[in-house]
Amino acid sequence: MPISLIVCTPEQAAVVAAELVVGTVARILPHRTPEVGAATGNTPIPTYREMIAAATRQGVDLSRVRTWNLDEYRGLSPGHPLSYRTYMATHLHDRVGTPPEFRCFPDLDDPAAYDLRIARDTTASGIDIGLLGIGRTGHIGFAEPGCDEDGGTFLSELHQTTRQDAVREFGSLDLVPTHAVSMGVGTIRKYWSRVILMAFGLGKADPVWGMLQGPIGNHCPASLLRRHRDVTVLLDPPAASKLTMKLLQATQC
Ligand code: PGA
Repeated sequence: MPISLIVCTPEQAAVVAAELVVGTVARILPHRTPEVGAATGNTPIPTYREMIAAATRQGVDLSRVRTWNLDEYRGLSPGHPLSYRTYMATHLHDRVGTPPEFRCFPDLDDPAAYDLRIARDTTASGIDIGLLGIGRTGHIGFAEPGCDEDGGTFLSELHQTTRQDAVREFGSLDLVPTHAVSMGVGTIRKYWSRVILMAFGLGKADPVWGMLQGPIGNHCPASLLRRHRDVTVLLDPPAASKLTMKLLQATQC
């Protein structure tokens, strides 16, 4: 299985993930534009902070990185405080000075155009490295259970559990969007060269088990990453708590 598994604290995971991303960016920058896949949610917030710290220490200019966000809610204005554009501006883009053309999000009216744009703009390289979280449903991006196993960017109807989890940000269920445009599992498998997936807390233990040890299928979209060539999974001990020892023995600490 082309998955490396690391179990550590969330703080250590943020440092490790940040070093992987900034290291990749530093290697590529002298030659071309680095292409980085970007997740939102609570999980990657410390990683963005550590990326900025690591880049500052190493003299790496993150404003020259083109970012490709996984998804965006439908029905929120771009400037809405809970849009993912705003999230990225807050946690990364405005802090490093990313130019507007390097802040890539799916077109809410034309989802399929995103994959074509990735193919065109990244030329042969695809997305060099990208961050992912996992939802309680086993979703990646907003590719929810039942999604097309090989699908490109699409309009996704959010699972009830996913909408329920977003109540903590939106305040009440009726304010949570019902749909989002999201990269599909096929987008990630086809265009992302390297995936860094992070999950923390007991609430993620079931989907993490499904991703790494359950049957592979679209009932748990993250399990389809086991068909991807290069995935690093960073877990804290509660998120790893349902994995069997056999798998955990493979852990590189
Ligand atoms: P979270 O979301 O980081 O807020 O837990 C992860 C996800 O839904 O992919």
